[in-house]
Amino acid sequence: EYIRLLRGLTSLEEEIAQKLSVKQVIIIPGDSGVDDTVQREMGRAAASLVYKHLGQNMTIAVSGGSTTAMMAEAINFTEPTTTVVPARGGLGERVEYQANTIAAVIATKLGGRYRLLHVKDAISEEVLEFILAGDAAILELSNIIKHADILVHGIGQAAKMAASRGLDESVVAEIAGKGAVGEALGQYCDLQGKIVYSTSSVGVRLDGLEDIGVVIAVAGGRKKAEALVAVANAGGQDILITDEAAAREVQTII
Ligand code: G3H
Repeated sequence: EYIRLLRGLTSLEEEIAQKLSVKQVIIIPGDSGVDDTVQREMGRAAASLVYKHLGQNMTIAVSGGSTTAMMAEAINFTEPTTTVVPARGGLGERVEYQANTIAAVIATKLGGRYRLLHVKDAISEEVLEFILAGDAAILELSNIIKHADILVHGIGQAAKMAASRGLDESVVAEIAGKGAVGEALGQYCDLQGKIVYSTSSVGVRLDGLEDIGVVIAVAGGRKKAEALVAVANAGGQDILITDEAAAREVQTII
């Protein structure tokens, strides 16, 4: 706390919260882009926020990514009445960073239950409709996810995410051409927060956060500053956990 005050991070938190219209911003000192311990600290901050908001019989939804994986690792309390679910489908990434895996780790630590989504990310609309029409359990789980009490999600740089998800080259170019800089929950948005491309999968999307209790975004590193502003401008975020490097860069663009 002393370091944060000394570096002016407390006033920066307030400034960014006001400009990005989020209720709370938490800034961890340092740059997670160059120092792994900073990402670990962001994970700890996310875990303690979950602890603060978690009551009995609640549902937590979580997205994939290395930052949310750090949150899962940092959970050091139990609440056996909790159900943990992935925020969206998606089986493409490294297994330890998949939403399903992270949901299972969190549930195990809490002594609670998990429910997993075995649906790939970025499937075609036709396949998605076919799956939903034929599988009542997936549809039910998708509805549970959309009404989660707590959602913790990462934010990615649009170009990087589009490339790593194995989208067609033409789609990657389309996303870039439309000015996308940020990605969260399968949707890509420009700096003003306009959603310019959506991948189709099951679960909650960036433009569907109205039925979620508390939305916590966790993302840091100087390179993610534009992505962070973009996703915050898209709306629906309650709390933003970031690091000093991203926050100082955000300050220059808002
Ligand atoms: O959805 C956002 C990205 O998956 C974030 O990934 O936390 O590993 O940077 P990361």
